[in-house]
Amino acid sequence: MAEAALFDTFARAPLRFERGEGVWLVTESGERYLDFGSGVAVNSLGHAHPHLVGALKAQAEKVWHTSNLYEVPGQETLSRRLAEKSFADKVFFTNSGAEALECAIKTARRYQYVKGHPERFHIVTFEGAFHGRTLATIAAGGQAKYLEGFGPKVEGFDQVPFGDLEALKAVVTEKTAAILIEPIQGEGGIRPVPKEFLQALRKICDDNGLLLVFDEVQTGVGRTGKLFAYEWSGVTPDIMALAKGIGGGFPLGACLATADAASGMTAGTHGTTYGGNPLAVAVGNAVLDVIVDDGFLQHVRDVALVFRQGLAALKDRFPNVIEDVRGEGLLLGVKAKVPAGDLVVAMRNEHLLGVPAGDNVVRLLPPLTVTAEEAREGLARLEKAAEKLSSAELKKSA
Ligand SMILES: Cc1ncc(COP(=O)(O)O)c(C=O)c1O
Repeated sequence: MAEAALFDTFARAPLRFERGEGVWLVTESGERYLDFGSGVAVNSLGHAHPHLVGALKAQAEKVWHTSNLYEVPGQETLSRRLAEKSFADKVFFTNSGAEALECAIKTARRYQYVKGHPERFHIVTFEGAFHGRTLATIAAGGQAKYLEGFGPKVEGFDQVPFGDLEALKAVVTEKTAAILIEPIQGEGGIRPVPKEFLQALRKICDDNGLLLVFDEVQTGVGRTGKLFAYEWSGVTPDIMALAKGIGGGFPLGACLATADAASGMTAGTHGTTYGGNPLAVAVGNAVLDVIVDDGFLQHVRDVALVFRQGLAALKDRFPNVIEDVRGEGLLLGVKAKVPAGDLVVAMRNEHLLGVPAGDNVVRLLPPLTVTAEEAREGLARLEKAAEKLSSAELKKSA
């Protein structure tokens, strides 16, 4: 076969999947893998979910794309439903998480601008954050490895250490527009932000005329066992970015805001050709049908418990492989004692997929539809992987 002509930006695993069924992915040669990565928290309802396939096929036979020059009924429905289920009044649809964040950043800056504070364009972010790969979102994430070589960092992002309230207070000035945070850091290694910290952020924002922006690209749409992770804390943001799970595998993101926070985003200030196109919002509406259905989020919380108990037992059995287990709902992180990449490979050898993250963590992000039985199957595979790594470690130290 001729060599591919792709950019070298991804270090891909040598696996070629041809189809998926629920929590399973099947390679071209027919090997089955338990997919507990869900395409990095995207396939919220697993693969080939009949309700999503039906919605996409039905829309594909009507109209694919019209642009935002015209009204898009599916957008109107989905925006209304998201607003009803959240703090928000208004929604802007995008194709990806980074674009949802770009919209969130622009919305926060414009808010200050129309309130008579054009000088307030700085946004405070946290070390370990990940907000995407556009020029503004790499500046927001602040990670040197993503910024290097791409010219001057976009101005206006002030980063403070994770969980450091004093450092945060010290960087808030008359130039600050907003605070941006993931309620649980995803790429940063499944690091939950304590409720008290989010409450403190809310107060600082209220006291200083700042907007609180939550990046729920990874945590949102049922992943943590609530529709949005902020619900666990009782703290509501002014602006929130969503993507990943909301499209269940179809590229879809959204920026949600209160009417006040969105007050600067008037006609012509922002736009997108594809964002919220009829195919995407048909799937988005179908995803929401399932996730807000009676008992679904309870199911996520119940299966999460099976995982937590199983993972805690594995941590006790293999302390030289698993250091810690953390997360909320089905956003789970296993902090490894061995290099996280080795654990991912050992899992893959057992035909179990997970996703590496920062802080030497392997993420387990199964589809939210995963059953308790499938969870136990995954745990059994993880056990085999840990067993092999553990005995290799023991041999090394012998
Ligand atoms: C919290 C968070 N924000 C933003 C993004 C960027 O999303 P995308 O890759 O769709 O642009 C990601 C992706 O991993 C994410 O986890």
